[in-house]
Amino acid sequence: MRTTRRTFVRASLATAAAALLPISLHAQEGSPARRPIPSTREAMPIVGLGTWITFNVGGDPVLRDECADVMAAFFEAGGRMIDSSPMYGSSQPVVGYGLQKLGRPSTLFSAEKVWTSSATAGPTQIEQSRRFWGVPKFDLVQVHNLLAWKAHLQTLFQMKAAGAVRYAGITTSEGRRHDLLEQIMRNEPIDFVQFSYNVVDREAEQRLLPLASERGIAVIINRPFRQGALTHRLKGEPLPEWAIELGVSSWAQLVLKFILSHPAVTIAIPATTRVDHVRENLAAAAGPMPDLAMRERISAYVQAL
Ligand SMILES: NC(=O)c1ccc[n+]([C@@H]2O[C@H](COP(=O)([O-])OP(=O)(O)OC[C@H]3O[C@@H](n4cnc5c(N)ncnc54)[C@H](OP(=O)(O)O)[C@@H]3O)[C@@H](O)[C@H]2O)c1
Repeated sequence: MRTTRRTFVRASLATAAAALLPISLHAQEGSPARRPIPSTREAMPIVGLGTWITFNVGGDPVLRDECADVMAAFFEAGGRMIDSSPMYGSSQPVVGYGLQKLGRPSTLFSAEKVWTSSATAGPTQIEQSRRFWGVPKFDLVQVHNLLAWKAHLQTLFQMKAAGAVRYAGITTSEGRRHDLLEQIMRNEPIDFVQFSYNVVDREAEQRLLPLASERGIAVIINRPFRQGALTHRLKGEPLPEWAIELGVSSWAQLVLKFILSHPAVTIAIPATTRVDHVRENLAAAAGPMPDLAMRERISAYVQAL
């Protein structure tokens, strides 16, 4: 039989799935499913919370409280990972405000970034971020958008060795610099990698996702809704009847399940300003997940709309 790109990708996915599926994606009733961080086997609920734009609300007390409400609903629904960056305006102090207001939830998994072109300014920036959050140390610090990555990764590896951070990682988004990211994934002992992947942007299936499985690197997916453009576009369309099999009640849940069911994905981090949306997103991490055939069906359906 001739091996087309599609059959090759399917076969690779099937192999990866066979390797990973013993870890159950079916969570206890209502609580989000978990996947292990490969480097430690620490179990991570598979939906987290992004903060870019949505938490950049400055000093407005009403909006800060709304963000704290989103965080409260997130923790209540079993979420752990919150992702931020010095690039996200006031998001870091807003996360810190929410954590303080909620009595510092012990289940928090703090995911931050270092984002400066100066090789030497990394440690000072990370310390400033830590103060904004008000945490003793970050669980994960990632080099944001590969900026000055060599120097910052060395800083993160040293911090990890000294017990000042638990995990080291690196990020990109919107398909940028995947060749360099791939090289880094092959050569550096990173715990996490973060990039964009969703039902319409599937390039990561070719090399990054299989490589992450092969190298035992945890994968964080950013822009699951294309910064809201995808959910906005699908809003007026009826959900296909067959989506009921997956127990979803919205497009957001269907396209999240597409991402979460890829065996190499550890966690997706949708951002939201709304309590009902954060609950809906966490609920997508529970219940049945699409198999390979259903994943293709979802993708084909959305592409055709
Ligand atoms: N290079 C990097 O490291 C990098 C780059 C990009 C993003 N990120 C991280 O990834 C996170 C997520 O990406 P993103 O913020 O670009 O966009 P996203 O999560 O793809 O989309 C966010 C948008 O989706 C909407 N939304 C969320 N839940 C929804 C639901 N259930 N139903 C309908 N709409 C929903 C939100 O609107 P509502 O407020 O109305 O819910 C918001 O406008 C970021 O916040 C950031 O933490 C990292």
